Amino acid sequence: MVGAGEQQVIRAPDATALAQTTANRILARIDANHARIAICLSGGSTPARLYRLLATPAYCSRIPWERVHWFIGDERLVTQNDPRSNMGHVRGSLLDRFAPASNIHPIPTDTMDPDESAWLYERELKSFYEAGQLDPARPLFDVVLLGVGPDGHTASLFPGDRALGETQRWVVGVGNAPVVPLLPRVTLTFPALGSCREMLFMVSGHEKRAILTRVLGGENLPATRAHSVGKTVFVVDEAALPEGFRGN
Ligand code: 6PG
Repeated sequence: MVGAGEQQVIRAPDATALAQTTANRILARIDANHARIAICLSGGSTPARLYRLLATPAYCSRIPWERVHWFIGDERLVTQNDPRSNMGHVRGSLLDRFAPASNIHPIPTDTMDPDESAWLYERELKSFYEAGQLDPARPLFDVVLLGVGPDGHTASLFPGDRALGETQRWVVGVGNAPVVPLLPRVTLTFPALGSCREMLFMVSGHEKRAILTRVLGGENLPATRAHSVGKTVFVVDEAALPEGFRGN
């Protein structure tokens, strides 16, 4: 194992500091691995600032682009040039400028069938990992980046969805998301997301305070149930931090 179960909350004064803290943690994980590196990025609006920051010279010059492979934790079933595409957004703001094309691993959406896309991505992940079973001693990803939705979802794992109970599959299709954009999705499952050295949740803004209070309080929600086999870290700005929070 790689230090299973460790969970930490890191406070950042504001959204800018939140992006900096997250970027520095990602760079520390990159520095710690001298071989091939796998990073699973997140959709949603919160990481946009982080992706812009990683594209600045101070950060992008420190990334060994030839050795880093980029994945995405969930996708909306749209083409990659659609503004609602998660990987499309990361490519436009960061990856297409620096990463070799063969190191960018989008979820294929041209099938327009969430289950078919899920099978294809699962096959790609297994081929990258060079095994069909996840070994906790050898995590699939160095870093998994996640967000928390207003209903406590993370990636496209929504409260009450059968995908939450998945223990075998690495990637599954989700019929129709209950939050906007109301589109079919494809999502990595808890076992695949958890197979990482560090899971980093980015949570920002006062509108996230209520749901984060429930997540950090341990309520049974998808974002509470996502755990790394290594370290799980919530990077939270002051606006989102639960009232009277006394953690580390
Ligand atoms: C997506 C996401 C989703 C997101 C949260 C938080 O495809 O929408 O991957 O899980 O991370 O909903 O989104 P915001 O950062 O926009 O609040």
